[in-house]
Amino acid sequence: MSGAGFERAVVLAGGLALEREVSLRSGRRVADALRHAGVETAVLDADADLLPALAADPVDAVFIALHGATGEDGSLRSVLELAGVPFVGTPAERCRIAWDKPSAKTVVRAAGHLTPDWVALPHATFRELGAGAVLDLIVARLGLPLMLKPAQGGSALGVERIGAATDLPSAMVNCFAYGDTVLIERFVEGTEVAVSVLGSDEESRALPAVEIVPASGVFDYAARYTAGMTAYHTPARLAPDVTERVAQLAVDVHRALGLRDLSRTDAIVDAEGGVHFLEVNVSPGMTQTSMLPMSIAAARLDLGQALRAMIAAAASRTDMLGTKSTVRV
Ligand SMILES: Nc1ncnc2c1ncn2[C@@H]1O[C@H](COP(=O)(O)OP(=O)(O)O)[C@@H](O)[C@H]1O
Ligand SMILES: [Mg+2]
Repeated sequence: MSGAGFERAVVLAGGLALEREVSLRSGRRVADALRHAGVETAVLDADADLLPALAADPVDAVFIALHGATGEDGSLRSVLELAGVPFVGTPAERCRIAWDKPSAKTVVRAAGHLTPDWVALPHATFRELGAGAVLDLIVARLGLPLMLKPAQGGSALGVERIGAATDLPSAMVNCFAYGDTVLIERFVEGTEVAVSVLGSDEESRALPAVEIVPASGVFDYAARYTAGMTAYHTPARLAPDVTERVAQLAVDVHRALGLRDLSRTDAIVDAEGGVHFLEVNVSPGMTQTSMLPMSIAAARLDLGQALRAMIAAAASRTDMLGTKSTVRV
């Protein structure tokens, strides 16, 4: 910790992932909010200069505003853990599970929550057993419509709704462009919500859910990052009992997966009020059109103060070896 209560942070933004543009916007927003809250903040990219920079000039904690693989699959966090650099958010090994959508669904279903029935298969299975035969089985078992998405990824890249079996082959080709494994699940008709959780363990609490209403009907990349293409209602316009169950899902997801400091769970509420888990994000978007900052505002919290508290929590943690995180590279 630097002296006299004067905190210093590094925000990591950029990266090589497909979501670089979004990350840069998130990073700017986080850095501005932290500075406003009195935290001296630099924005760095996750490149070969990062470790030497953190070693030469240690800060209280790092905030990871990287989306996609670099920020969310645990690899960068593993290196920060090795280097003894405190960071805000979920530890590396926990990220690996949350980042892999089928793994996260398995954990969340075991915790007693709904998630659309699914199958996850690597490209090789379709090649070896014949794509047509395997796809026929999937349609016979899961029915239509289906949702196709890369098992790992974000920002709705490669995500497609399949209304007819004849659309499956080309959608699969598109999906495999983003990763080796495709997740195919039942399409759930209903109201989409994003529920952010702050804190860790017993202290985890859900913020007001954001209801998402894309003008086009599909919450795709354009609908997410183009101002005006999607209407957001915070808090979501749900019945009180549904509001409660949506919040409970997000907190249970956060705890069951061992997430820390912040997360955002994406879910769909069906016509009967059933709440279906889609996925959880350990490095949620922080841009002007992102849901976590909307939830923070709806909870009447100040974004800068909330982020500053996360920096302080990260700085005070002991590292994975059980010692205070003061070891520097
Ligand atoms: N099973 C599903 N039923 C209906 N809509 C879905 C389903 N899965 C995903 N979607 C839609 O696709 C979007 C992206 O899916 P999601 O699982 O959140 O992946 P990511 O945000 O990581 O790309 C969601 O925000 C939602 O609009
Ligand atoms: Mg999502």
